[in-house]
Amino acid sequence: MNHPPTAHAIDPKTGTMNGATARYEKRLRDLSTIYADEAAFARAVAQEGDRVVYYVHETRPAASHGDLIFGTTFMEPGRIGEEYFVTRGHIHARANRPETYYGESGNGLMLMENPEGETRILEIAPRVLVYVPPMWIHRSVNTGAEPLVMSFCYPSDSGQDYEIIARSGGMATRIMANGTGWKAVANTAYRPRTTEEIAAILATRD
Ligand code: NI
Repeated sequence: MNHPPTAHAIDPKTGTMNGATARYEKRLRDLSTIYADEAAFARAVAQEGDRVVYYVHETRPAASHGDLIFGTTFMEPGRIGEEYFVTRGHIHARANRPETYYGESGNGLMLMENPEGETRILEIAPRVLVYVPPMWIHRSVNTGAEPLVMSFCYPSDSGQDYEIIARSGGMATRIMANGTGWKAVANTAYRPRTTEEIAAILATRD
């Protein structure tokens, strides 16, 4: 199917994107098993489990090899215990597919981890573009007091593997409050991937 060229106005405060073909949202209760402080998470769900904590507007022109998916992510500010709100996070099902994120409003981090378990953390802010290379697990973190809005773009045949994080007991690094800022803390429940698991991810081709 051929698509005509299109232009999409983005509201940097809300992430609303003209011409978006899909919208999905995550509620607080959808994010079980992510946060270190399970008691604080249970209390938050009891109080406001239906609260929408992030949502995505996106356009998917075609699923065919070589096309792009693009859109915006809006993340509410907040914490579970001392841990800042995060997205569920994933590696692309075709792990060698990259992605870009561009800061529209607010302040946060792109938390990334390669299959070997190495962490990279890059700050994202208005007019900053973060490149997530092939083979990197990625998760967004809102470390600010305001919503974090980013626009993104990635190959349309990437897919998402969310389970890679759960299989390792979470990502290796957590982002916690540190006064008015943030600090990276080792996740004590983290289980490194085996040599075989790492090789299978890195073997992704085409
Ligand atoms: Ni992605």
